[in-house]
Amino acid sequence: MPTATEAGLSDTQRQVVELAREFARERIEPFAAEWDRTSHFPRDVIDEMGKLGFFGMTTPEEYDGMGLDTVTYLLALEEVAAADAAIAVSMGIHNAIPTTMLVKHGTTEQRERWLKPMARGELLAGFALSEAEAGSDAASLAAQATKEKQGWVLNGAKAWATNAGTADLMMIMARTDQTGARRGAKGISTFIVPTDSPGYTACKPEDKMGLRASNTAAIELSDCRLPADALLGDGGMGFVYAMEGLDAGRLGIGAQGVGIARRALEHCIRYTAERRQFEKPLHDFQAVQFKLADMATRIEAARALAHRAAVRKDAGENVGMHASMAKLFASETAMWVTTQAIQLFGGYGYMRDFPVEKLFRDAKVTEIYEGTSEIQRLVIARALR
Ligand code: CAA
Repeated sequence: MPTATEAGLSDTQRQVVELAREFARERIEPFAAEWDRTSHFPRDVIDEMGKLGFFGMTTPEEYDGMGLDTVTYLLALEEVAAADAAIAVSMGIHNAIPTTMLVKHGTTEQRERWLKPMARGELLAGFALSEAEAGSDAASLAAQATKEKQGWVLNGAKAWATNAGTADLMMIMARTDQTGARRGAKGISTFIVPTDSPGYTACKPEDKMGLRASNTAAIELSDCRLPADALLGDGGMGFVYAMEGLDAGRLGIGAQGVGIARRALEHCIRYTAERRQFEKPLHDFQAVQFKLADMATRIEAARALAHRAAVRKDAGENVGMHASMAKLFASETAMWVTTQAIQLFGGYGYMRDFPVEKLFRDAKVTEIYEGTSEIQRLVIARALR
């Protein structure tokens, strides 16, 4: 299976991919099945990744990041996702959404206090936009932030937030305009919320189908008092900041989908060479060869789409539509490839003892979070008007 490293990369890209691949092979993949079974979030491994720079990959060097281009970041994320997509999502959210928000809209003080330690891997960050009644329609969120003399008070509840119970800080979207209609993108603001703030409670981790080592939880905000400088950027611009963050995040989900699909194909190539039926290896059957060929082709196309969007992003283009295309295609590729993988493994594929079953479960959420496939199609269609 041709991997990304064979595709004419720069020396830096090659070195970063090698580092990510080696780390993933030694420190993630051997333990992934156990973490999945026990829903264990390995903060020690996340911290090790942080020390290696994986949590500040595209953060500019002046903020203690690695200052790498987005393609290099996606290549590293693909390697981590191939080993365990649950670890990749922590890395992806942190690098894409809170980091983008602080780089673009943070004050000097906020960048010193939050962004630099995040880039050094000392603080883990997450992002909370969704609510029980505000999923795809994110602009209908109802959490409230009220201005007081000393700062802000947050009340409400967020849902399905990655890292909610394991992060050191969360970027939380709450409504600051109490006067307007309940729904509306205009009155939403972004707050930097340390997770040890009084009034911040991460609920019991969700019992998920896949990505079981990743912490996903609701957040209760009950008179959560924050200083005045917890507000990020301009009040009322939080929805736009969330969408900008999601543009970067969706590219990461593209790489995550590619990583999951690639690993499934690698398992299939090995398995179909070893497994014999009707007195020959499975891969001697043309029906099997065609399946493998289609899997490999879709993976290459998904990677190319994500990398092309990454190049556009680094050139300063608006990549909303391209990020949605990359996420849509890669997540549907991951789901399709892992479904074929289960089929090729047959009865074994359906068993927890074999790795493709976990890849199949992990793939599903890539079609749901950071915007469902339907939302990606909507974003693409709107851009075509
Ligand atoms: N960049 C910058 N600004 C943007 C933007 C972008 N990508 N997308 C929209 N905006 C701006 C618009 O220009 C508009 O501003 P103006 O009014 O000044 O023109 C404003 O934001 C509102 O935009 P829309 O009118 O398009 O808003 P909408 O209500 O129609 O919603 C949507 C658009 C695309 C459906 C959006 O709600 C959306 O993406 N929904 C999906 C939400 C989502 O992805 N949720 C996942 C949460 S994260 C998660 O999964 C948890 C986790 O931890 C993994």
